[in-house]
Amino acid sequence: MKPKVLVTREVFDDTLELLGRHFDVESNQADTSLSPDEFARRLADKAGALTVLTDRVDEALLGQCPRLKAVCNIAVGFNNLDLKACTTHGVMATNTPGVLDAATADFTWALILATARRLTEAEAWLRAGEWKGWKLKQFLGADVHGATLGIVGMGRIGQAVARRAAGFDMNVLYYNRKRIAPELERECRATYAPLDELLARADFVTLHTPYSPETHHLIGAGELAKMKPTAILIHAARGGVVDDIALIEALKHKKIAAAGMDVFEGEPKFNPEFLKLANVVLAPHIASATVNTRRNMALLAARNLVAALAGERPPNLLNPDVLK
Ligand code: DGY
Repeated sequence: MKPKVLVTREVFDDTLELLGRHFDVESNQADTSLSPDEFARRLADKAGALTVLTDRVDEALLGQCPRLKAVCNIAVGFNNLDLKACTTHGVMATNTPGVLDAATADFTWALILATARRLTEAEAWLRAGEWKGWKLKQFLGADVHGATLGIVGMGRIGQAVARRAAGFDMNVLYYNRKRIAPELERECRATYAPLDELLARADFVTLHTPYSPETHHLIGAGELAKMKPTAILIHAARGGVVDDIALIEALKHKKIAAAGMDVFEGEPKFNPEFLKLANVVLAPHIASATVNTRRNMALLAARNLVAALAGERPPNLLNPDVLK
C-alpha cells in the first residue's frame, strides 16, 4: 500500500503525477483554504503533506496527526511551520530554496522601477481619462541609474538583486547579520554597511530577510526616520518584517518618498490606508509568481516529500535534529 499524503492547495499536473507515482494522494485542487479543523481532519491519517505558506503547522495540528512524517512547504519562507513542534513530533519539515531566487529578484526590480518611475500611479491616471497632453513636469520620478541601493538581508535573493544592480550602475550597500565572503562581495559589487548607515545613505532600501521573532518590525518608525525623505522602500520579504502602520505614517507625511510592497502584515488582509496613498505600488505576494518558478517550487516540494517518505534525508530539510 502506498503512503497517504495530502496536497493542501492547487498545484500543477506534473506535481500530482510525480506524487501519484509514490503515494495515495488526496488533493485540494479546488484550491479553497482549509480551516484549521478541516486541515487537521484531512491530515489525521496521512504520512505527509505538501503545504503552502498559509497553512499553519503547529503543536495543535501535529497533536492530531500521529502518522505524519513530513511536511513539505511550497515556499522558501517557513514561518508557517513550527519547527520545534515538528521535531518534537518526529515530523521532517522542508522548504524550497534556490528555485525562486531569480524570479523574486526580477520582481524586486519591477517594484524598484515601477515605484521610482511612478508607473502604477501614472497608469491609473491615464486609464481614468485624465491625460490631456504632454507636460515637462508630468509624473517626475527618481533616477534608478547611478543611485545607491541598500539591500537588507544578503542571502541568495539579496545577492541576485545586487547582481542586477550592475546594469543600472548603482552603488550597492548591504546589511546582513553576518558579512558575506569577500569574493561574493566583489562578485555582487556590494559593500557591507551597518543597518543605520545603510538606511541613512540608500536611495532605495530593499528587504530580503526571512520573518522570525528577530526580524519582526525590523523596519519600524525609528528606522524609517533614518531614511532620506527622497528614499524608496521595497518590501518583497515577508509581512511583519515592516511595521505597516509606521510605514503608512511615513508615506503619508512624506518622511520617505515611496514604497513598493509585495507582502503585508496579516495578508491577504492588509491595512486599507495603503489604498489611499499614491506613493505606493502594491502587489499581492507575487514576487515568485512565474510559471516556471512556481512549477519548480511545487516539484521541489514534491521531491522533498518523496525522499522523506522513502526514509532518505530530504534535500531541503529544515529541522535536521528530527533525524537524531
Ligand atoms: C516564499 O517562497 O516564501 C514566497 O514568499 C512564496 O511566494
